[in-house]
Amino acid sequence: MTTLSAETALQHITRQLARRGIPIPSTDPDPGPSTHAGQPGEPGDPEWHHAQRVELAMSRWQRMTPPVYQEAHTDHSDVIAWSDTVSQAWPKDGEQRLQGPSLLLWGGTGVGKTHAAFGGIRRIAAAGVPRFSMVFTSQPEMYAAMRPKPGREDQQERLERQLMRTPLLLLDDIGTAKESPWTAEILYRIVNHRYNQRRPTIFTSNYSPKQLREVVGDRIHSRLAEMTTAVRMDGHDRRLPRRA
Ligand SMILES: Nc1ncnc2c1ncn2[C@@H]1O[C@H](COP(=O)(O)OP(=O)(O)OP(=O)(O)O)[C@@H](O)[C@H]1O
Ligand SMILES: [Mg+2]
Repeated sequence: MTTLSAETALQHITRQLARRGIPIPSTDPDPGPSTHAGQPGEPGDPEWHHAQRVELAMSRWQRMTPPVYQEAHTDHSDVIAWSDTVSQAWPKDGEQRLQGPSLLLWGGTGVGKTHAAFGGIRRIAAAGVPRFSMVFTSQPEMYAAMRPKPGREDQQERLERQLMRTPLLLLDDIGTAKESPWTAEILYRIVNHRYNQRRPTIFTSNYSPKQLREVVGDRIHSRLAEMTTAVRMDGHDRRLPRRA
């Protein structure tokens, strides 16, 4: 029978948990200097901690990302600049909240807005930020999920809270949902909260910022204008075959 020393057993358990994406306070991404020098490739080695953070963040990114965007990378310079700013602003300490700029990717159907958004967020995960977390929804899906259902009366409030508080939100297709006073109020509350807290958000839209003003109204438009860099995306509809 092999007897493991207490320290070796702890390292073994730590590795197993980390592989399954379960954070452990003592090893989960401790961005500060290690308290003891670990062997290369073992807990305590800064490179080991970084690799664990990347693995955990990327597994969360993959879980949140629909199959069609699983291979998304971005080479768009504005999106890359945004990702790197957000990665650098990402709190090293669990007590702090992420604050940073937001993006509005706008342009025609199929030009690659959602793809670029997932690519930008992937870049943040791949940087190995601690406790990476994101939420993805589209405006129409968000309203559908919030509609009151019997027995789920708290659903709207729960989802709103989640969309307000998540460090990173990808809110796809703004302006496409049919607005009513109920939907307009929800969108305002979420945008206003993320604006007030400076929470990084990527919005995508088929509308230009000017057209969005008509669609979402002055109050939301004004907040979007201040909090986002508007990036126009051009090109053909990538879902359609290209004519020779
Ligand atoms: N840079 C890229 N490299 C490879 N594939 C891409 C790229 N950009 C987009 N695609 C692919 O093209 C398709 C359309 O992209 P996407 O869904 O991002 O478009 P969109 O601008 O968000 O469209 P919509 O306005 O309809 O929401 C997807 O299959 C996407 O994975
Ligand atoms: Mg899209």
